[in-house]
Amino acid sequence: MSEEPITTRAVVFDGPGRPLGIEELRLDPPQRGEVLIRMAAAGVCHSDLHVVDGEWERPSGVVMGHEGAGWVERTGDGVDVPARGDLVVLAWTAPCGACDACRRTEPWLCSQPEGSGHRLKPEDVRLHRAGSGEPIGAYSGIGTFGERQVVAASAAIRVDPRTPPEIAALIGCAVTTGIGAVRNTAKVEAGESVTVIGLGGVGLSAVMGAVAQGARPVTAIDSSPAKLELAVRAGAHRTLLADEVAQAQGADHVLECIGLTTTIELAIDLARPGGTITLVGMTPQGQRASFDVYRFVEDGKVIRGSNYGSANPAVDFPTIASEYLEGKLPLDLLITERIGLEQLDGAFEAMRRGDGARRVIVY
Ligand SMILES: NC(=O)c1ccc[n+]([C@@H]2O[C@H](COP(=O)([O-])OP(=O)(O)OC[C@H]3O[C@@H](n4cnc5c(N)ncnc54)[C@H](O)[C@@H]3O)[C@@H](O)[C@H]2O)c1
Ligand SMILES: [Zn+2]
Ligand SMILES: [Zn+2]
Repeated sequence: MSEEPITTRAVVFDGPGRPLGIEELRLDPPQRGEVLIRMAAAGVCHSDLHVVDGEWERPSGVVMGHEGAGWVERTGDGVDVPARGDLVVLAWTAPCGACDACRRTEPWLCSQPEGSGHRLKPEDVRLHRAGSGEPIGAYSGIGTFGERQVVAASAAIRVDPRTPPEIAALIGCAVTTGIGAVRNTAKVEAGESVTVIGLGGVGLSAVMGAVAQGARPVTAIDSSPAKLELAVRAGAHRTLLADEVAQAQGADHVLECIGLTTTIELAIDLARPGGTITLVGMTPQGQRASFDVYRFVEDGKVIRGSNYGSANPAVDFPTIASEYLEGKLPLDLLITERIGLEQLDGAFEAMRRGDGARRVIVY
C-alpha cells in the first residue's frame, strides 16, 4: 500500500542576502525515535536574524526557525513519549543522554545531539525540494518555519495541552533562555537586585523570571521607550533608557540580553563589587569585548555565559508552561503580533529596528 506523500510549506535559507522564499517540500515519514510534527506556531528570534544577516556562519539549504510548538501527528518506531495528538514544545538541542555533558546534566552542551546539527548528514535528512528531491536541512534539528517537521522524539517535549500554542512556541527559546538565565545560570535569589539590559523576547523573559524569583529591585534597560513600558508590565521596578544608565546602581546580578560588545562592557560595569554578570545576548561570531581588569579583579566580579538558560528542556518546558497557566508569568505580553509565514521578512525588518517583542507565526 503506497502512502500519501507528506508535504510542507516552509521557509528555506539559501545563504545571507538571498530572499527567504516559501517552498513546497516533501518530508520522509518519521523513522525510529522520531516524530512528525504539525506545527502550530513559531516565534522569530534574534538568533535567526544573526544567521539571515550572515553574522553567524551556518549551512544554507535549511528550513530556518528554532522556536516553535505543534502537535504530534505521527510517531516512528520505538516512540512512546510523546504520543500522537500531544502538544509539544520543540527544543533546539535534543540531548543524546550519554555524552559527558549529558551525564553532568548539562544538556545544552551535549556534544552529539540527536538528529544532530542541522540534519544535513545523509542519514539525518528528512526534507527534500519537491521537484528536484535535493536534500534540505532543519535548523538546529527542528527548523520551525514550516507547516510540518520531523524531529527527534527527545526534542519534542510534552506540555500541558491547555497551553496556548503561541505561548508554547516562545517557551522553546526566548522564555526558557531568559528565565533559565536568571534561575539556573545566575541562580538569583529573593531579595537580590537584578539589572536586565535589552528587552526583546529574551530580556523581557529574564525580567519576568527575576520578578518571579522575588528579586528586588529589578531594573530594566533598553534604548526603546516602548520596551520600557513592556518591562513595567512584566513587573520591573525601575526602567532606564540606554542613555540614562549613569543613574543605575550596582546590582547583585546583571544580565546582558542584546549581544553588543558595548552593552556587554556596560553590564560588567553595572554589577556591584562581588556581583555576577550573565551574558545571554550573542554577538556576531568572532567579536571580543574588554574590561578594566584591575577593577574587575579588585571588585571580585564573576562573568558567566548562559546557553539556552542552562536549562533541561524536558524539565523546564513543562514547568514554565504550568507556571504560565497558574498566572505566575505574564508571557502574553511578549507577543507583539501574530503573522503568517509570508510576513517573515517584515518580522526580521522590525527586529532590526528594535520594534516589538516577539512576532509569532501562526500556522
Ligand atoms: N544564549 C542563548 O542561548 C540565546 C538564546 C536566544 C537568543 N540569544 C541571543 O539573545 C539576544 C537577544 O535576542 P532577542 O530575540 O530578545 O532579540 P531582540 O532583537 O528581540 O531584542 C534586543 C533588544 O535590545 C534592544 N537594544 C538594541 N540595541 C540596544 C542598545 N544599544 N542599548 C539598549 N538596548 C538596545 C532592542 O531595542 C531590543 O529590545 C540575541 O543576541 C540572540 O541571539 C541567546
Ligand atoms: Zn532563539
Ligand atoms: Zn549528550
